[in-house]
Amino acid sequence: MTLRLGVLASHNGSNLQAIIDSCATKAIDATVEVVISNNSAAYALTRAADAGIPTRHISTATHPDPKSRDITIATALRDHHVDVVCLAGYMKQLGSHVITEYQNRILNIHRAPLPRFGGPGMYGRAILEAVLSSGVTEAGAAVHIVDEEYDQGPVIAFSPMPVYRDDTVETLETRVLALEHRLYPETLGKIARGEIVLPPAGSTVSP
Ligand code: GRF
Repeated sequence: MTLRLGVLASHNGSNLQAIIDSCATKAIDATVEVVISNNSAAYALTRAADAGIPTRHISTATHPDPKSRDITIATALRDHHVDVVCLAGYMKQLGSHVITEYQNRILNIHRAPLPRFGGPGMYGRAILEAVLSSGVTEAGAAVHIVDEEYDQGPVIAFSPMPVYRDDTVETLETRVLALEHRLYPETLGKIARGEIVLPPAGSTVSP
């Protein structure tokens, strides 16, 4: 059965594009049904519109009350019969309605190993700066299940990547994004084919 995806993105949306392209070429049996952003100027929304995918701007500007914002996001996902929610550079925390309704069905992609390089404040280039200053020789991209805690949910797919002595934040970013663009669609393809089975709603999973 075709996997119906809802993608939440705040900025560029290059991961969204990789997912859209994999759906379009039928590399994965999935469709992006709706793209939601908290940022009306996100290029992710342009990418979605260009692909003919419905978009929603749901933010503190459109819905100042956090509960109403949370319910509006959950309703938009439900209205589009979304099976799996993909966070792709989404910079806001989800509310309890979305987390509960899509428990164990919300995924995120992270640009470094988890839980080591996750948690509050670990976003964007700060993550890669932490990787560089830690001295690790291996980093990589991770797809994990999203729960109430920042970057704490179980990792369901990981793609390793060497860290070289002369790497900079920029070189790491270029390489990890290329990895992400393969890993996220591949992982969704495995879910669509039943090769990765997401835990049933109501069960808790240890990382
Ligand atoms: C990616 O590196 C992703 O891992 C992180 O945010 C970045 C989003 O990039 N969560 P893009 O918007 O998909 O280009």
